[in-house]
Amino acid sequence: MMDFPVELFRGADTPFYYYNLELLRQTLSCIKSSIPASNFKVHYAMKANANPVILEQINDAGLGIDAVSGGEIKAAISAGFDPQKIVFAGVGKTDAEIIYGINTGISAFNVESLPELEVISEIATSLNKTANVAIRVNPNIDAHTHHYITTGLAENKFGINLEQLDSVIEKCNALTGVELIGLHFHIGSQITDNTPFAVLCERINSLQNELEAKGVRLKTINVGGGLGIDYDNPDENPIPDFKSYFEVFSKNLNLRPGQELHFELGRSIVAQCGSLITKVLYVKKGTTKQFAIVDAGMTDLIRPALYQAYHKIDNLSSNGVLEKYDVVGPICESSDVFQEDAVLPQVRRGDLLALRSAGAYGEIMASQYNLRRLPGSIAK
Ligand code: LLP
Repeated sequence: MMDFPVELFRGADTPFYYYNLELLRQTLSCIKSSIPASNFKVHYAMKANANPVILEQINDAGLGIDAVSGGEIKAAISAGFDPQKIVFAGVGKTDAEIIYGINTGISAFNVESLPELEVISEIATSLNKTANVAIRVNPNIDAHTHHYITTGLAENKFGINLEQLDSVIEKCNALTGVELIGLHFHIGSQITDNTPFAVLCERINSLQNELEAKGVRLKTINVGGGLGIDYDNPDENPIPDFKSYFEVFSKNLNLRPGQELHFELGRSIVAQCGSLITKVLYVKKGTTKQFAIVDAGMTDLIRPALYQAYHKIDNLSSNGVLEKYDVVGPICESSDVFQEDAVLPQVRRGDLLALRSAGAYGEIMASQYNLRRLPGSIAK
């Protein structure tokens, strides 16, 4: 089991997120050493976790940012990221966010529709600027992941369909406020088999050939994020296999001379370094089951309730005999269950449990439902 600094946890208000910064640094240095060429650029998808302590480490490692709101751009700037390393994605950018992005000098907008392209051009023109845009193409690839987090299928709200791509490129050339710099793709999240990424490379290759024949030259190809992590074995596999992941692209993607390849990785960077630490309030015996009722709920970590996601649970306070528990939160919703039939060393009131692999899409998705306080965090 990961070493938890339990002495630091004494007296802290539970539930809270614990971030193992050493693991985060190791993960970031693994990314650095796995990058096969200097034209591979990794952006951190900030939507996974925007805790300032995490952002500081990621900025120190020299990564860029993939932002999806004005709020995220602002957080990136205050964490010290260079605007020139920020890309801005999202299907519903507001006028205020577009103005802010242009004035901040971000490197590119990932554009998801024709009307959005027109608005960006109009706003940029009115500010006497030109906005760099990458067109998000929907490559119609099944990423074989949970249907709530697959994004690259044709009937999805994201991106521009392949059939409409030509007309959107023409529009880019016709509009005065935008400059087309690249194409952007993202096929889904928590992808644990590299095959869909190889398929994506093939799609991009044929698309580039077609576009090149029409005289379209692109400075960047952005393949999004999606690399999955091992939720079942966080101790055995604390760092994803970045090397094999990047290799899929260096082997299968035909980049043009001078072309940059961008990535937007979220989960794979921050998931394993974070755990939600919660205190057991009551152990309740049912007729056939026993329940460990903890002070964290779906408001602190919504992934199990929302996606039936599994987070391994460790009991940090006991070496007792193994028993089965349904680990449940205090919220008035029957989906507020972290795990059914979790096998844990005997659980008593006051024990601390760690819900593992919660560094991505954990703290950032917390809510105040039931007027609960938002979880705090401890990083070491
Ligand atoms: N780029 C784009 C355009 C995205 O939509 C996403 C994630 C990423 C990059 C980062 O993907 P990652 O490397 O983290 O897989 N809340 C869900 C995950 C939603 C992912 C949304 N988009 C969860 O808890 O599983």
